[in-house]
Amino acid sequence: MKAQKQHVNNLYLIGFMGVGKSHFARMVSESLNYKFFDTDHLIEKNEQATISEIFKNQGEMYFRKLERDLIVSGLPDEACVVSCGGGLPIQDGMMNLLRTKGVVISLFASKETILERTRTNKKRPLLNVDNPEEQIGQMMSLRAPKYLEADASIATDGRMPADIMNHIIRAYKTINKVKSS
Ligand code: S3P
Repeated sequence: MKAQKQHVNNLYLIGFMGVGKSHFARMVSESLNYKFFDTDHLIEKNEQATISEIFKNQGEMYFRKLERDLIVSGLPDEACVVSCGGGLPIQDGMMNLLRTKGVVISLFASKETILERTRTNKKRPLLNVDNPEEQIGQMMSLRAPKYLEADASIATDGRMPADIMNHIIRAYKTINKVKSS
C-alpha cells in the first residue's frame, strides 16, 4: 500500500507582546524551510497603514476583524510559520480556529523581560500608557489562561535562543505527527 503523504500543518506562534514570536517564527521557518508570515506586517501592508494608525483611525475592533479574516482565509494552509499578534488568539473562538488550522505554540516570558523588550518601541498602542508595567501585569493575567490553551507552551526566560528554537521545532514535529495521523 502506498504511504499517504503527511499533511504539513502550519505552525502558529502566539503569546504576549515582546516574547519574541516574530524572531523565533522567522528562525524556525528558515530551519524547516517553511514560508514565514507575521500577521501585524501583513495587516499593515494590506491596509497601507501602521498598527497605531489603524487603532487610532478605525479602532481596535476593526483591527481584530482584520486579524480574524487573515487567519480564516488570508494565509496558505500548509507549511507556514505564522507569528500572530499578541491579541489575536484572545478573541472568542480564535484559539479553536487556530488549533484546527495547525499546530499552536505559545511563548511565555516574565513581566520584567516583556517590559524591557517593549520599553523603547512605541509601535504598540496598547502599551503606550502611563504605567506600562501595570498594564502588562493586568493584561498578562487576563490573557495567560487563553495562551495556555495552545498545543504546547514554552517558557523562554534565561534560555539561549538556539535552545528555544530547538524546543519549538521538537514540539511542532511531535504535535504535527499526532494532528496529521
Ligand atoms: C497586540 C499585539 C501587537 C499588535 C497590536 C496589538 C496585542 O503584536 O498586534 O499592537 O493586543 O497584544 P505583537 O504581539 O507582535 O507585538
